Amino acid sequence: MSKNDLDAYWMPFTGNRQFKQHPRMFASANGMYYKTPDGREVIDGISGMWCCNAGHNRPRIVQAIQKQAAEMDYSPAFQIGHHKAFELANRLVKLMPGKLDHVFFTNSGSESVETALKMAIAYHRVRGEGARVRLIGREKAYHGVNFGGMSVGGMVANRKMFGTLVAGVDHLRHTHGNPANFFSRGEPEHGIEFADDLERLCQLHDPSTIAAVIVEPVQGSGGVILPPKGYLKRLREICDRHGILLIFDEVITGFGRLGKPFAAEFFGVEPDLATTAKGLTNGVIPMGAVFAQSKIYEAFMQGPPNAIEFFHGYTYSGNPIACAAALGTLDTYEEEGLLTRAATMAQYFEDAVHSLRDLPLVMDVRNLGLVAGIEMHAAPNEPAKRGFLAYVKTFEAGLLGRTTGDTFALAPPLIAEKKHIDFMVDTLRRVIKSID
Ligand SMILES: Cc1ncc(COP(=O)(O)O)c(C=O)c1O
Repeated sequence: MSKNDLDAYWMPFTGNRQFKQHPRMFASANGMYYKTPDGREVIDGISGMWCCNAGHNRPRIVQAIQKQAAEMDYSPAFQIGHHKAFELANRLVKLMPGKLDHVFFTNSGSESVETALKMAIAYHRVRGEGARVRLIGREKAYHGVNFGGMSVGGMVANRKMFGTLVAGVDHLRHTHGNPANFFSRGEPEHGIEFADDLERLCQLHDPSTIAAVIVEPVQGSGGVILPPKGYLKRLREICDRHGILLIFDEVITGFGRLGKPFAAEFFGVEPDLATTAKGLTNGVIPMGAVFAQSKIYEAFMQGPPNAIEFFHGYTYSGNPIACAAALGTLDTYEEEGLLTRAATMAQYFEDAVHSLRDLPLVMDVRNLGLVAGIEMHAAPNEPAKRGFLAYVKTFEAGLLGRTTGDTFALAPPLIAEKKHIDFMVDTLRRVIKSID
């Protein structure tokens, strides 16, 4: 492909000039592996982009999509239904713990976040608490790239170019960086007190102005940041004390990443709303879903009987082909026990990633379920340089991962075997050793 052929496509979250000088391309994918156009295998260490939880080219999903495309390609999303959307919602609520028993369909994680934030503010309004409009996010959080998600998010580069963002947003401090937590296996011991930031913000703004707090149970894109022990429970308690809704952004943690279907079950903390996408369709077709407790759904069900209760939705909400893909995905997860398989692989994975601890460049290793972050010391005055080098060099050595700053993230498909984990960690070891 000539330089000109690469020019037209403005690639997302990519160094376009670097990429177009040194393109990295995939041509096919199967199971744990991608193949490049010249036939080189690259093992998938990050489930595509945290989404292909069942690996690639899974027959049930492929067939479901093909069949649905031939049967009914599209059905209007507003005022008309089709069976697969209802079937999917029913199956999904059975996987989610507790009272999160209603589902609203979107097309991405970003749209799920916008939807949940709007639900939270409108929920308070329909109950007569229209002053509750503030939203609380967290530093280093990633909630997608739309205005609401960007505003509650806390990754500086994602925010600084885009003006004043949504008004009335404040942030909890992030929980990352305490050396006493370095090389923790699983949830870190220190930092529960960071949850008390929420109490502080309640005192600053008055709780009667706060609609919701949104957090990723495990921060993924921000660099694999794990919640300190007891942190999420304490957030729940503070929310309960002040009538604030708790939103879990489970776009990465949903669908088995931690060894339970959702992080809510893993941590034993039930949010009022949960956002999902990615693993919902195994990343194959864009789709997201917001789970809402029945108290929220019921609060909207008022007014004249044929009135629209929530002025929100997308042309592709519950798209038939997306629903078919999601049903095929859930079948695959169920048949192969994938939503709990991370629990059986977690110990092996943990030992493997922590074996990198002896490398002088490695500052911290953190892990939970089938996700790990390997953080390198930053090069003097050049933060993120080593991270990017590690990304490019591992790719060349046959491993796909992702980096944030100088943290290399691994989150392999839930079908990964020990030999796959060994290859990933061996490759990473060789690459980190080669970086100065
Ligand atoms: C926690 C979280 N929320 C939201 C998103 C945005 O999802 P999407 O890229 O599908 O809009 C992501 C994407 O990585 C995410 O990790």
